[in-house]
This record gives sequence, C-alpha cells and structure tokens, in this order.
Amino acid sequence: MSGPEPTPDLVAPSTAVPSTAVPSTALPSTAVPPTAAPLPTDRSGAPLVSVQGLAKAFGDHQVLTSIDFEVQAGSVTVLIGPSGSGKTTVLRSLNALETPDAGVVRIGDLEVDWSRRPVPRRLAQRLRAQSGMVFQSHNLFPHMSVLQNVLEGPTVVQKRPRAEAERDARQLLDVVGLAEKADQYPYQLSGGQQQRVGIARALAIRPQLMLFDEPTSALDPELVGEVLGAMKDLAAQGWTMVVVTHEIRFAQQVADQVLFMDGGVIVERGTPSEVLTKPSTERARQFLHRILDPL
Ligand SMILES: Nc1ncnc2c1ncn2[C@@H]1O[C@H](COP(=O)(O)OP(=O)(O)OP(=O)(O)O)[C@@H](O)[C@H]1O
Ligand SMILES: [Mg+2]
Repeated sequence: MSGPEPTPDLVAPSTAVPSTAVPSTALPSTAVPPTAAPLPTDRSGAPLVSVQGLAKAFGDHQVLTSIDFEVQAGSVTVLIGPSGSGKTTVLRSLNALETPDAGVVRIGDLEVDWSRRPVPRRLAQRLRAQSGMVFQSHNLFPHMSVLQNVLEGPTVVQKRPRAEAERDARQLLDVVGLAEKADQYPYQLSGGQQQRVGIARALAIRPQLMLFDEPTSALDPELVGEVLGAMKDLAAQGWTMVVVTHEIRFAQQVADQVLFMDGGVIVERGTPSEVLTKPSTERARQFLHRILDPL
C-alpha cells in the first residue's frame, strides 16, 4: 500500500533546516541559522526537554523532591505555585545555574545525570548553553547600548561573526518591538522595554529552550501587557518556553501544560483548563483562589 506524497503544507516550518545540520549537543554558536526562527525542533516525536527525578536540598531543607516532567518542542509550559515551592530552583537546575543532587535533565540531545558526580564543568556549560533565561529584572549592562547588550552573548561568548550576529540581533529587537531603540542605553528605556531587551538578549544565543522566571513581576502594572505580548509572539513563532508566572490569563491563553508546584513537588499537572479552571487538589484550589481574589 503506498500512501500519498506529503504535501508541502503538511511539513512543519522547522523542517526547512535539516535537523542533522544542527546537532543540539553543539554549542549554539555553530548551529545558528541567521534567521529569526528558533533552532529546528526535534522531529522524532521525543519531547525536547525531559526531567526525571530532579532533587535538590539546601542543607537539610529538601527544596525539590523527585520532579518529573517533559516539554514538547514548540510548546509552552507554565509553572505556578506558592512562594518557596521551588519554581526558581527548577528553572535554575534546567539552566545548570544550580547543581541538583540527583535527577536526569535532557534538553535536545544533551543529557546530564546529576547523580553521577562529579558532573564535568564542560558538560554543565553545554547544558547551560541549551537554554536562555529571563529573570525578574533584566540585568542589562548599563554602560552598553541596547544592541551591544544583545550582541554580548553571540559575539563575546559564542564568538560568532559580528556582521551576522548584528543582523540577527536587529531582527530579534524587531521581534520584541524595539528595532528603533538599538542605539539607546538601558536608562533611556521604560521597565517594560528593558525587560524586552532582556528577552532579546536571551534569544540571541539561539537557545533550544527559553526559561522565564516571573518576567513581569517587577514591572508597573501598565507595562506587564507589552512583555506578555512579546512572549505570546515568541510562543506563536514556535519557541519552546518554560515560564514561571502568576499571570493566569497568559497561562490560560498561551500554555500547553501547567504544572502546579507546592513544597518542592509537582502536585498537579495538565492543560490550563484542567489545572487553572478545575484544579483537582485542595492545595491548587486554595492557591488559585488567593491569586485570583487576593482580598
Ligand atoms: N541558595 C539557596 N540557599 C538556601 N536556600 C535556598 C537557596 N535558594 C533557594 N532556597 C530555598 O529553596 C526554597 C525554594 O526556593 P525557590 O526560589 O525555588 O522558590 P520559588 O517557588 O521560586 O519562590 P518565589 O515564588 O518566592 O520566587 C525556598 O525555601 C528558598 O528559601
Ligand atoms: Mg522564584
């Protein structure tokens, strides 16, 4: 039995660049097509990110206990939960900013088993290069222009050719709506604009995965929308994202899966409507109630 030839419109955009040309274990510097599109996604059907048995203690405080989850390429995962539940520690572990005590973290083809000590520094650095992270506050270099801030990672760290990196950086500034601000300095921008530069800067290393840790929580309320809007655009463009946020409407509109954490454990997981609208645990119900109706 011979099936019909696949028609071009059935081919995902990411197949435009052969995945074999971009080994995801390589540092992004060698793997980056000079376009605004994210790196090609894994077409084998395996999730882009897999976390198994992640555990971390600070002293005798067990902060994460056996965290397991997967993230499909091109999807958005929103992580919610009370303060101190371990959300930042999960993101920092994915980005190798934290050294977990145990657990296997795989991003693309690169896998790190944190229980096999010592984890070589080079391996941890390669894991870090798989993801770009956006923090609560942007941490831009104040003495550098917007463009220089975005170019720092690709040119200084990844040693990419300046002209190509600059073309790329200008495209990314356009993606976050700041093309005209390239030559300004951070102090000349609003908080929301600074945070969007922070997003462009994280994108500039062409990570496989974008991690956002409460990217709007330090902003004045009227600036939140522009940053969430930029993130929504990135999701629509196919970036794979893990986002810690308490912006429930953003989660409802953009997330493919929501993970609710409490006490270092993922207590509940599912689609936004499962977890946010019909939570099955009392802990999640109480938390959402407090977020949606703080008084
Ligand atoms: N470097 C550290 N040393 C000691 N304890 C830490 C460290 N980092 C985090 N913790 C503790 O680990 C727990 C989880 O912290 P984490 O920052 O991951 O929580 P969170 O869910 O992101 O909270 P929040 O919503 O307030 O940002 C907290 O009790 C915190 O005090
Ligand atoms: Mg946090």
